[in-house]
Amino acid sequence: MYGNYDGLNKGVIFDLHIGVNYWRTVNISDPDKRTIAEVIFVAPVDYIQVCLVNSGLGTPFISSLDLRPMKNRLYPFANSSQSLVLAGRLNAGPTDTTIIRYPDDPHDRMWEPWSNEPTWAEITTTSCIQNIQNDLFEVPSAVLQTAVTPVNSLELKTFWTADPLGKDPEYLANFHFSELMNLTKDQKREFNLIIQDVRFSSEPFTPAFLLSNAIYLDNPVHGLQQYNVTIKATVNSTLPPILNAVEVFMVLPVFDLPTDSADVSTINAIKSEYQIKRDWYGDPCAPKSYAWDGLNCSYAVSSSPRITVLNLASSGLTGEITNAFGNLKAVQTLVGDNVDLCYDGTECHQPKKKSGNSKIAIAIIAQHLTKIHHRNLVSLIGYCNDENYLALVLEYMSEGSLQDRLKGRPGSSWLTWKERIRIALDSAKGLEYLHKGCNPRIIHQDIKPHNILLNERLEAKIADFGVSKAFSSNDDTHVSVKDPVGTYGYIDPEYYVKRKVTEKSDVYSFGVVLLQIITGQPAIIQGTGPESEPVNVSQWVRQRLSRGNIDSVVDARMQGDYDINSVWNAAKVALECTEMSGVHRPTMADVIVRLQECIELEAAVGRNRNGVSRNGVNKKE
Ligand SMILES: *[C@@H]1O[C@H](CO)[C@@H](O)[C@H](O)[C@H]1NC(C)=O
Ligand SMILES: *[C@@H]1O[C@H](CO)[C@@H](O)[C@H](O)[C@H]1NC(C)=O
Ligand SMILES: *[C@@H]1O[C@H](CO)[C@@H](O)[C@H](O)[C@H]1NC(C)=O
Repeated sequence: MYGNYDGLNKGVIFDLHIGVNYWRTVNISDPDKRTIAEVIFVAPVDYIQVCLVNSGLGTPFISSLDLRPMKNRLYPFANSSQSLVLAGRLNAGPTDTTIIRYPDDPHDRMWEPWSNEPTWAEITTTSCIQNIQNDLFEVPSAVLQTAVTPVNSLELKTFWTADPLGKDPEYLANFHFSELMNLTKDQKREFNLIIQDVRFSSEPFTPAFLLSNAIYLDNPVHGLQQYNVTIKATVNSTLPPILNAVEVFMVLPVFDLPTDSADVSTINAIKSEYQIKRDWYGDPCAPKSYAWDGLNCSYAVSSSPRITVLNLASSGLTGEITNAFGNLKAVQTLVGDNVDLCYDGTECHQPKKKSGNSKIAIAIIAQHLTKIHHRNLVSLIGYCNDENYLALVLEYMSEGSLQDRLKGRPGSSWLTWKERIRIALDSAKGLEYLHKGCNPRIIHQDIKPHNILLNERLEAKIADFGVSKAFSSNDDTHVSVKDPVGTYGYIDPEYYVKRKVTEKSDVYSFGVVLLQIITGQPAIIQGTGPESEPVNVSQWVRQRLSRGNIDSVVDARMQGDYDINSVWNAAKVALECTEMSGVHRPTMADVIVRLQECIELEAAVGRNRNGVSRNGVNKKE
């Protein structure tokens, strides 16, 4: 009831949705009139969404919402493919104007009084009326105890009108009967029910004495503005027809399925965890036109929509990344720009000094890593620490790791030299930023092809800051560590002597990676002869280059399609990076300049190569 609560004294028209489907349009013009919308609905999942949709004709409102569980047997025409929207439920012939509902009706349906038509007479009984066995409707005795009958006629006429706001609505109706008079042998009450000239009872119908019974439509009618109903006595009937109660329903097809229920509970958990201040109400994905802001969903014809993209960018999220994110099984992309997202909302801002390496590492991550943004570093969206595991949530890199691509990735071609040298330069830039661009500076400590990730444009970004250590102040030149860190094959040989890692330790690891990019070989190469020892790729390349042949080290899968000077220069940089002594290694800034030269050489000759082949000359450098 509107009750002019907002003082505007204006009517309102809005839509209701049940589950993810349209239910009905509500038109409220009289502020003091109560409007009730009722639907009999089979819930496909263990919750029911009810939505009031603003259609631009006033602010929707609701005064109360009641939910009644219903026996499965009742109203069989409400099922998973259609719902029944109540158009009217009338109790014919009561002597007063009270609505019958609970406790008279155990299901708390509201039976509106319907009498005082000039052509009708009321009949009543005080005897109790029983429901027949397996009654589909269980109309209460109090409703059936009164009935109407036509005066001076053998026909009882009535009608219902179609909802003017519905789009060719379909209707079902139930007519409830019970004989209230104890008839003599000579008396007979027998009638047919006709709607628009169609007889709806297959046999002439005789109501049973003090028992419930019904004539109901089992196929919906539609296409009319007004449905004329005639209940007409047969020729053999000595008594006029009666009518005790009637229900009319609009049939509502269920078109859309709700979002996968696991996705719904998860997204609701995320919503409450972060107190997300968005207009996130109702079903997340359906109906499609009302899907939540920040979500993309996949829609299939016969299965529930799934959440595929969750974009919480710039939502100001703070606190721990909940485990719930892992339950969004169909999510492919999780995007964010929420620098305060970490494992503990308080430590985000005031990192405490704690003993224990893992705690320190974590604190260094709340302190620094979320502040680090560079196009050649994989963005850390946040992380989750549940005591046993530390899980990082990173930017999505569709082409996997450099390791995958060097080993060969199903469905992908081998990397060309141009792509390889570009990946090397991108990685070098990311590393240089860690060494010089961040405050405090960071030593990665685990540079290897696994930790260089590629996006769909094959742009390389450095990942896995898990063991990265920040310099405690900018004056320090190294970080002391107790345990060896990094991966065998990539660890700075000087580390084993001096027990400390420096920026030059990363330069060494980068040199090994660059040699792998050139040769396609692993970091440690198993010897082929019976006595030969496994050797590091840097020794392997040094041995071969000392015999003067660059082609013998270059990855054969590039099929000779590279500029020899470009590869040669890259190999020289890589060997300098893998010098035994850190002081002889270049800085990452030097490496970047040298790799840029390699790219220019390849680009110039690449242009030339194309020009030559256009002229039909099959020349290889
Ligand atoms: C809403 O109801 C009022 C009063 O019954 C009626 O005049 C008006 O036309 C209705 N609006 C629509 C859109 O049907
Ligand atoms: C229903 O009955 C009324 C008269 O009671 C008549 O005017 C109207 O045409 C009828 N409607 C239909 C669709 O037959
Ligand atoms: C009327 O009753 C008679 C006798 O019982 C029966 O033969 C006849 O078929 C009935 N007529 C109708 C229309 O039901």
